Amino acid sequence: MNKIFGLAVAAALLTTMGACGGGGEATPAASGGTGGDETLTMGFAQVGAESGWRTANTKSIQESAKTAGIGLKFSDAQQKQENQIKAIRSYIQQKVDIIAFSPVVESGWDTVLKEAQTAKIPVILTDRAVDSSDTSLYVTFLGSDFVAEGKKAGDWAVKEFASASGVKVAQIEGTTGSAPAIDRAEGFAEVVKADPKFQIVASQTGDFTRAGGKQVAEALLKSNPDINLIYAHNDDMGLGAIEAIEAAGKTPGKDIKIITVDAVKDGMTALSEGKINFIVECSPLLGPQLMDLAKKVKAGETVEKRILTEEGTFTPEQAKAALPDRKY
Ligand code: AHR
Repeated sequence: MNKIFGLAVAAALLTTMGACGGGGEATPAASGGTGGDETLTMGFAQVGAESGWRTANTKSIQESAKTAGIGLKFSDAQQKQENQIKAIRSYIQQKVDIIAFSPVVESGWDTVLKEAQTAKIPVILTDRAVDSSDTSLYVTFLGSDFVAEGKKAGDWAVKEFASASGVKVAQIEGTTGSAPAIDRAEGFAEVVKADPKFQIVASQTGDFTRAGGKQVAEALLKSNPDINLIYAHNDDMGLGAIEAIEAAGKTPGKDIKIITVDAVKDGMTALSEGKINFIVECSPLLGPQLMDLAKKVKAGETVEKRILTEEGTFTPEQAKAALPDRKY
């Protein structure tokens, strides 16, 4: 009885998640009517709709599934791990062919991944990693090297402040416990700690949202009015910080330099205007590769355990040149 109730709750949750949030719209497959001509069904448990990056990532996945003829069941977890776990359990019950998801945080996945393994449903990790020591719980992980992204941010800071005697840095972190927040902080710290003039005076989470970035920046401008550099783990939080800096009567990009990660259109626009100084790219366009991988896995082909996305960096001049063709 309890089990039946649990399933009903999970199904209701998926319907609700499908009905709200920017990226949460259910595809025809999720609402049960695809015409039945797909050869493969994928259940995708998305993190949420917290950033411009995430919106572009959702669009890429939904469009690529359509193009590839893959039936997509899509859910938006609204940045909550328990919602993602419920969605994955529901996909297991529905006997999808493949489960793909972008884990909101790194830890706490073993139980549900073991349930998928027992049901013989392969799992593909996309965008973010899990910290499980049992790597047999997923077939492959497709996404960026977040540590390398943090290092690129640090390398730019070291060059930019080469002639400064001291640099006070404030870091606006992504979602606590998430792979990009942990790794981007690690990569950056590794580079700047080699240069003693850098001092990270504050480091707080803005949860990857614009509102969160603004709130953190407002507080840190009060506690540390003399900071020289803000390193925000994504564009949205950097854009929130710009609003806070302007409201405090300072000029973003000049009085306080800003580095962000992602390179979505809004971030690139601020970079081209000199309000952000440097962006490390993180590509959200993972859909086509994900659908290819799903087909290969379903066909029993061996795929690489780790597939890295290729990414660059942008200066204001490079942003100006890239903006006219920027798709997201
Ligand atoms: O996991 C990728 C990160 O998640 C992006 O950098 C950020 O914008 C998003 O919310």
